[in-house]
Amino acid sequence: MNTTRFSGRTAIVTGGASGIGRGIAERLLAEGARVSLWDANPAVGDVAAELKAHHSVQLDVTDPQAVADAADATARALDGIAILVASAGITGPNVPAWDYPIEAWQQVIEINVNGVYYCNRAVIAHMRRTGYGRIVNIASIAGKEGNPNASAYSTSKAAVIGLTKSLGKELAETEIRVNCITPAAVATPLFEQMTEAQIAFMLSKIPMKRFGLVPEVAALVTWLCSEECSFSTGAVFDISGGRATY
Ligand code: NAI
Repeated sequence: MNTTRFSGRTAIVTGGASGIGRGIAERLLAEGARVSLWDANPAVGDVAAELKAHHSVQLDVTDPQAVADAADATARALDGIAILVASAGITGPNVPAWDYPIEAWQQVIEINVNGVYYCNRAVIAHMRRTGYGRIVNIASIAGKEGNPNASAYSTSKAAVIGLTKSLGKELAETEIRVNCITPAAVATPLFEQMTEAQIAFMLSKIPMKRFGLVPEVAALVTWLCSEECSFSTGAVFDISGGRATY
């Protein structure tokens, strides 16, 4: 590990209070970044203190004004914004699409799609001023393949892939890179939102016959956050234990 790879860089990690976001924040901190955790969980300040993160904001990513205000506050407190990792997300219930509760559908789209868009939009305003940035959106293999009994989630993650591809092209002539990753199942507190049958289904689809580990995801994401990720943008990076075939 390079403890100075992100020296002088400010990173925002949404969903940084738990699971994949938390693990990515830990690694960015270990490699020298100034890190702000953004999360709806009121414990986000305690997690930031525990990780020795430099800043935190408790917010709901579905509130565009709160997101824009948080970006301004973070840039002021930590001297700009160089990196965004958009990890905040939910799964929604595991039921067939025709029975999917409308309100649950709307909530999944609101958090996983609109929330990611608001965060990307808010930080890009800052990154365009300095001319440098790295954005990594956490999509899912579900967005490529469409998991049964997870239609809202699969739809939302396909949308994150689409947003990432558009932004990557729109910003390609700048030094701002926008990529996403599509993990297969990683054992985190997110599993508490899913049925046992859904978790078993996801495991059965992974050729390595195990779940991914948070540090494995953090290793890929930190590379995508780094200056070395220079010739990839609008791209979709696989981390699925062999599940993805494209
Ligand atoms: P997690 O449940 O451990 O963490 C998600 C975090 O997002 C939580 O701290 C939660 O408070 C926060 N959050 C939820 N709604 C929010 C909102 N409206 N505003 C602000 N913060 C909010 O889940 P995990 O596993 O870390 O998931 C992170 C991302 O990775 C999600 O986008 C998820 O869809 C994606 N992913 C997870 C996989 C897995 O198997 N765990 C596989 C593929 C993708």
